Amino acid sequence: MRTILIPVLFVLSATCVPALCGNEETPVLQPGAPAETRSRFAGLDDVRLLANGLLQLGQSLREFVQRTKGQINDILQKLNIFDHSFYQLSVLASEIKEEGEELKKTTVVLKANNDEIKDLSVQINSKMENIMQEKSQLQNKVEGLEKKLSTLSHGLVTSDQVAEINGLRDVINSQEQSIIELLNAVKEQNDQINHQKTKIKILEEKVDDTIERMPENFNSEAPTLTPFLTSICGHFSTDLPSDCSQLFSRGERASGVYAIRPNGSEPFMAFCDMSKDYGVTVIQRRRDGSVNFDQTWEKYENGFGYFQGEFWLGLRKIRSLAAQGDSVLHFQLEDWKQVRRFIEYRFYLDGPESNYTIHLTHLSGDLPDPISNHTGMMFSTKDRDNDKHQDLNCAHSYTGGWWFNACGDTNLNGRYFHMRPKGRSERRRGIQWKPARKAPYFLKLTQISVYPVAPPSSSSASSETGIFL
Ligand SMILES: *[C@@H]1O[C@H](CO)[C@@H](O)[C@H](O)[C@H]1NC(C)=O
Ligand SMILES: *[C@@H]1O[C@H](CO)[C@@H](O)[C@H](O)[C@H]1NC(C)=O
Ligand SMILES: *[C@@H]1O[C@H](CO)[C@@H](O)[C@H](O)[C@H]1NC(C)=O
Repeated sequence: MRTILIPVLFVLSATCVPALCGNEETPVLQPGAPAETRSRFAGLDDVRLLANGLLQLGQSLREFVQRTKGQINDILQKLNIFDHSFYQLSVLASEIKEEGEELKKTTVVLKANNDEIKDLSVQINSKMENIMQEKSQLQNKVEGLEKKLSTLSHGLVTSDQVAEINGLRDVINSQEQSIIELLNAVKEQNDQINHQKTKIKILEEKVDDTIERMPENFNSEAPTLTPFLTSICGHFSTDLPSDCSQLFSRGERASGVYAIRPNGSEPFMAFCDMSKDYGVTVIQRRRDGSVNFDQTWEKYENGFGYFQGEFWLGLRKIRSLAAQGDSVLHFQLEDWKQVRRFIEYRFYLDGPESNYTIHLTHLSGDLPDPISNHTGMMFSTKDRDNDKHQDLNCAHSYTGGWWFNACGDTNLNGRYFHMRPKGRSERRRGIQWKPARKAPYFLKLTQISVYPVAPPSSSSASSETGIFL
């Protein structure tokens, strides 16, 4: 815009300004001699002309000023805008500068990091190189050793031996492999065993639970054994053996069920165990838990169960056997470790008026004797409490009929468990033989039998014999 303004001003100064000065000697108005010759003063027409020109000039000047003013305003405005833009630009620039500074700093830090990393990688590389060097040195050494070894072995051993050694090495290698496999197998087995163990534990808990619930489930009444025979079969009363011992002495050797008639008694069926050198009359047998021994007084008096399985001969019949005179009571027991033991007592049993009070004197055997403590005890069942315990009915709490003293002792008519019972409450109810101040035996098999002190036909009676179970 300035470039346009300047030529305009120049034109103005060249053409118009001298006229404005009002100088009398106006060289402009002396363009030629003819004017000087006419008059020293300008003519009226000339004045008019000049005035007109001046007027025109003034008008154009005003216009020019006006126009210029507008133009200057415009320029100023634009300058303003430019200023503003320039300010913004400078702000931006300073911001960029700041950012640049920061960038520079970051770059410095990054550079430092980079240098560190470079350092590290150099170190690692050198270490790697060291390791590689060491490795190759080692390899060399090993090779040297191998060479030495082979020269040595060549010097010392024949090729056959080398082959043998190689063979041995193979064997050892395969052995090692086998051992590793074995170890793995063992580990696997161990894992499986642990797994099984937990399973077993769960099962045992379940079994214990079931056992705890058994009183409700297992309430069956055992069948009564055959009654005394007199009333039905009178002809039996003649010439029957008084017991299994006498039957044995008559030549009978097969164990089984026979009719016997103890002196002063009605005849009845009894199981004879003929497996020893003499016959014994079996009064109780447990072997599989097939019969519930938690029975009433009446059942214990008359006997229950199955001769071929588990049974109780009955107090009346046992009493009639004992009443014949000096008798031996023989206990044969097997625990859950399959260990069989026996014990024998001189035995006598009172009648029903005394609630079948038992009298025992220890004779022999390889079992500890806890039963002497039961001597003089009356028989008790869950429905007839004759024990020495003040508050408890032992037969009820411990199950089964027995010559209970004060509970917590031996009871071969307790509940049959199919393993060594786990819980205290089960153990208490289980079939057990409990020596004083010693761990009780938990039993898998029991047999109680009676025979006369001096078996009629036996001079070589041995107490350690087999057992018919
Ligand atoms: C049977 O018992 C009576 C008395 O109880 C006795 O006199 C008799 O001798 C006994 N008989 C036998 C064979 O033991
Ligand atoms: C036998 O047992 C019953 C019932 O338990 C009892 O009443 C009675 O007194 C006992 N007999 C003797 C001699 O103690
Ligand atoms: C016999 O039984 C009583 C009462 O239960 C008991 O205090 C005592 O220790 C027992 N003795 C033996 C040797 O078992």
